[in-house]
Amino acid sequence: MSVCIVFHSETGNTRTVAERLAPLVGGDLIEVTDLAHYSKISRYIGGGRRAMKGESATIEPATIDVTACDTVVVGTPVWAGNPTPAINAAIEALVGIEGKSTVVFCTSGGMPGKTLETVTAMLAGRGADVRGAVPFTARDVQKGEGVEALADLILRAKRGFDASAEPSR
Ligand SMILES: Cc1cc2nc3c(=O)[nH]c(=O)nc-3n(C[C@H](O)[C@H](O)[C@H](O)COP(=O)(O)O)c2cc1C
Repeated sequence: MSVCIVFHSETGNTRTVAERLAPLVGGDLIEVTDLAHYSKISRYIGGGRRAMKGESATIEPATIDVTACDTVVVGTPVWAGNPTPAINAAIEALVGIEGKSTVVFCTSGGMPGKTLETVTAMLAGRGADVRGAVPFTARDVQKGEGVEALADLILRAKRGFDASAEPSR
């Protein structure tokens, strides 16, 4: 059983973390695309406002089935102190997330606001068992820092799942 890394990224930072993480945890990448296809300006004006209101985007894929994953990782950029509309939609689109060990991360310019708390609460509302949440700054991403610590957290969450899946003697 694998680790599924569900992420959204418009300018590459969140994708970079997800791609560095995947080989460390044996993860499969599931990239979510916002079909609004923002320009730089519309991303700040339209996207930022939608994020602030907690709105959900129209995304591709429209359904994200994690039934076959034992651990789910969700990565979001921070927009106006919030998760992106694409990640709000991705959390709604998850199938099979109930009871699943989950870890969250975000990338930001350094002011993540309540992004991690919001994503954690949304996932808990879907029945996920959220084990941890890690913020990255764009500077961390440039320097390649913090991914090993996130991988350790995910592998510990995964081992917890494996142990609980073992038959009792
Ligand atoms: C619309 C918009 C709003 C943003 N709001 C914030 C913010 O509130 N705090 C912050 O630290 N960075 C903010 N940023 C910077 C991004 O969070 C940061 O560049 C992030 O790493 C982008 O992820 P990506 O490259 O995966 O798309 C914002 C960027 C955009 C486009």
